[in-house]
Amino acid sequence: MPRLIRHDATAPFEVKPTEKSVWICLCGLSRNYPLCDGSHKTCRQVEQPGKLHVYDKDRQKVIEIRDDL
Ligand code: FES
Repeated sequence: MPRLIRHDATAPFEVKPTEKSVWICLCGLSRNYPLCDGSHKTCRQVEQPGKLHVYDKDRQKVIEIRDDL
């Protein structure tokens, strides 16, 4: 399901090789962006198939649901 999220980073994030896995957030909702913090569960809980979800600036709440064009 698609979503609109405000991003303000202007530089890349370096992930150095480690023995432990590093999970990079691909949903855009992490409070610890660019690292995953589990917030992606919100996508499955509140987002509807075929709709575009607009989140508030804190990426925690859906403030608008549009038809996905
Ligand atoms: S993938 Fe975005 S918080 Fe996990």
